[in-house]
Amino acid sequence: MMFTTKCAIQNIRNVAIVGSGLMGSGIAQVSASSGLNVVLSDVKQDSLDKAMKSINKSLTRIAKKQNGSDKEKADYVTLTMSRIKTSTNVSTAVTDADLVIEAAIENIELKRGLFAQIEQSAKKDAILTTNTSSLSLEDIAKGLDDKTRFGGLHFFNPVPVMKLLEVIRSDHTSDETFATLIKYGTAIGKTTVACKDSPGFIVNRLLIPYLFQAIKMYEREDASMTDIDAAMKLGASHPMGPFELADYVGLDTCKFIMDGWAAKYPDNPAFAASPLLDALVAEGKLGRKTKEGFYSYK
Ligand code: CAA
Repeated sequence: MMFTTKCAIQNIRNVAIVGSGLMGSGIAQVSASSGLNVVLSDVKQDSLDKAMKSINKSLTRIAKKQNGSDKEKADYVTLTMSRIKTSTNVSTAVTDADLVIEAAIENIELKRGLFAQIEQSAKKDAILTTNTSSLSLEDIAKGLDDKTRFGGLHFFNPVPVMKLLEVIRSDHTSDETFATLIKYGTAIGKTTVACKDSPGFIVNRLLIPYLFQAIKMYEREDASMTDIDAAMKLGASHPMGPFELADYVGLDTCKFIMDGWAAKYPDNPAFAASPLLDALVAEGKLGRKTKEGFYSYK
């Protein structure tokens, strides 16, 4: 039965999520479903409205599959939604938070600016985290006064479905902060894995070069896209082939991650660019979100 929504961490009741895109809204949903009070913040009210709609849709999808009466299912959705407040002001959004999760776009300057604002407005004992998928925690936390309360919580898309949460510690993250982040992950129903502040952590460090190897295989004309996808689905039991997955993640995101690593580690051939991917991104073919990437979704 799913209608249990008590979160088992005593020191985290209020969570603020900064950024209401795909990841931020998913994180808000799983936190609220676990009984936590959430403030979801974004600069645009429009984005927040869109996020609340998509959370409602996802919760309804989940509720539908559970045991219980129609009323119980509707109540579950209403109760979970009622735990999520929205704000267009990041400073007020984080005031009462025990845990802040930044899920804004992957721009180092923007993230640094946000954390300066967040640290100024949050409680002194609040834990501050980033959902970055490829940037260094050390770089993001550069301007923070207290780096011991800072760490990484890396979620996967779609957040309500994917069972993993990577919990990242920098050299400054305290044991207490890290232990609380692991507890938060467990309380929201994720399986946690720990990783140091290293490029791509565990999943993306393996996944992004794998996606690029598939693209390079296709560029060399070793095999067709559909055969590479079929091979990995049927031969390795992956739910999606590499081209389907790259379209799902977003080709701009794949390129952004790889470009960042290539700039930082220019001698590592695993991080070499793909001309085909660069061309698709330049044409605005970014995958599912633009209805065209390696495949067409029109
Ligand atoms: N909210 C709630 N439930 C959802 C959902 C959502 N947003 N999206 C899917 N679901 C549920 C469906 O209801 C369905 O549930 P049941 O099986 O209980 O009916 C289940 O998930 C499967 O969904 P679908 O039947 O619609 O489609 P599918 O079987 O093709 O699965 C998928 C879709 C879960 C996305 C699957 O294809 C998959 O796991 N793909 C790989 C995704 C992946 O690798 N993600 C990680 C990307 S990397 C990343 O995120 C890190 C980064 O930093 C780049």
